[in-house]
Amino acid sequence: MHSTLNRRQFLTAGALTLTAAGLAGCSSRSGSATNTTSFVKPGSAAVTAAEAKRRRTGTVVQRTLTAEPVTLDLGGKTAKTWAYRGASATEPLRGNVGDTLKVALTNDLPDPTSVHWHGLALRNDMDGVPNLTQKPVQPGGSFAYEFTLPEPGTFWFHPHVGTQLDRGLYAPLIIDDPNEKADYDKEWVIVLDDWLDGVTATPDQVLAELEKGMIDHGGMDMGPMRMGNTLMGASSPLLGGDAGDVYYPLYLINGKPANDPQTFTAKPGERIRLRIINAGGDTAFRFGVAEHQLTITHTDGFPVEPSKAESVVLGMGERYDAVITAGDGAFAVIAEALGKQDQALAVLRTGSGTAPTKKTTLPPTKTPATASDLRAASAVGLPQRAVDRTLVLELTGGMEKYDWAINGKRMDMDRPMRDALGIKQGERVALEFKNSTTMWHPMHLHGHTYQLPGGGPRKDTAIVLPGKALRVEFDADNPGRWLTHCHNVYHGEAGMMTTIAYQEN
Ligand code: C2O
Ligand code: CU
Repeated sequence: MHSTLNRRQFLTAGALTLTAAGLAGCSSRSGSATNTTSFVKPGSAAVTAAEAKRRRTGTVVQRTLTAEPVTLDLGGKTAKTWAYRGASATEPLRGNVGDTLKVALTNDLPDPTSVHWHGLALRNDMDGVPNLTQKPVQPGGSFAYEFTLPEPGTFWFHPHVGTQLDRGLYAPLIIDDPNEKADYDKEWVIVLDDWLDGVTATPDQVLAELEKGMIDHGGMDMGPMRMGNTLMGASSPLLGGDAGDVYYPLYLINGKPANDPQTFTAKPGERIRLRIINAGGDTAFRFGVAEHQLTITHTDGFPVEPSKAESVVLGMGERYDAVITAGDGAFAVIAEALGKQDQALAVLRTGSGTAPTKKTTLPPTKTPATASDLRAASAVGLPQRAVDRTLVLELTGGMEKYDWAINGKRMDMDRPMRDALGIKQGERVALEFKNSTTMWHPMHLHGHTYQLPGGGPRKDTAIVLPGKALRVEFDADNPGRWLTHCHNVYHGEAGMMTTIAYQEN
């Protein structure tokens, strides 16, 4: 780190003026000061103008949310953790597209926090990224979020501070389109999570263990090996030699572990829309319902051409909506924790029959659905046009130094504009994620949805496999300062994040 002279030292340095000027010149603080002047600010007129263009119903949905310490009973295990009063996996926030969502957040945690509305193309100053779009909400403090719900779909929210999302601080945000023809009888929100907080460790302890560094044993065929709260050799043919780094004692569906599963009830023959959300910190899930076929209808909120599959893979942050036709009996709803030899379980019951147990597994499929199998519904595909700007985002770093980064630069959330990449409003932008690491990464973009190549789905989070590249495109139509990052919370916190910022016109 540079040692920067403070102003008084500088003024009294006298004979050392030349040296001091040299130091000041190379300190990155002055660099970021020049940076911030040329980029659109979160509270600027451009942001207000973009908000004014969103369609509005005039309805206000008002909620209060308190982030607070709680004690949970997870199938007989007591876990002290942090969660929201006012929303949870089974208590989503919900509104219609065009409604104004007003959320009064109170922070009763011992640490600062924020709320990020994952996947929404919302006004920049409500995006919930401390030091970039707002000040962190201090312990005892509060913040009033207020924004127009921009698109219908399955979204969720979580803090954007440290590893907080790997605690109980998350919940779905479902945005309905009153004009959508509902081709189903019922719908269920299904939130998948990997859980350790208060059972084996806190997420902060896990991060500290990871930061000590590990030897990359990816590709071993012996199954995952636990070392403290970390895992080595959690390999999955779907994700590569290193599917995850963290040992979780529990996997949850809607906050319930496999020994105390949630039971969903329906009538045989009913068509049920499932809104599946991966809220995990370090686990990709393969999701399916035993003896049922999924018809995938949406991903990350946006419709796709309906596509049938036995199971679907969700990286952290991804969502899929799928319709099933309920059979007669009791069936396992399964989320296999890829590479970790464990799974989350819930029960679908439409008749008699013994409840499935954790021993029920999904039939092995070589080819579960992933985003690359899907095509955007014609209404949401980006219009064909030339790309104005390509940003290459090389994913770098590894387990040994735990130096996950983008283009070799590790994000410092105290100075999130330091390495910001500029774009201009109105541009078609291509993001080229080039994964130079030996691990897969779910890459998320704030404030926009990009489109996968070849008419692929509109998404805000997509898996980039080790050694592979993924080129996506989006339209720069939402001015502000937006993060793009790996949604593995430990990778993101270690530095695999960068900022994409609109330049002032
Ligand atoms: Cu769920 Cu920065 O995002
Ligand atoms: Cu990652």
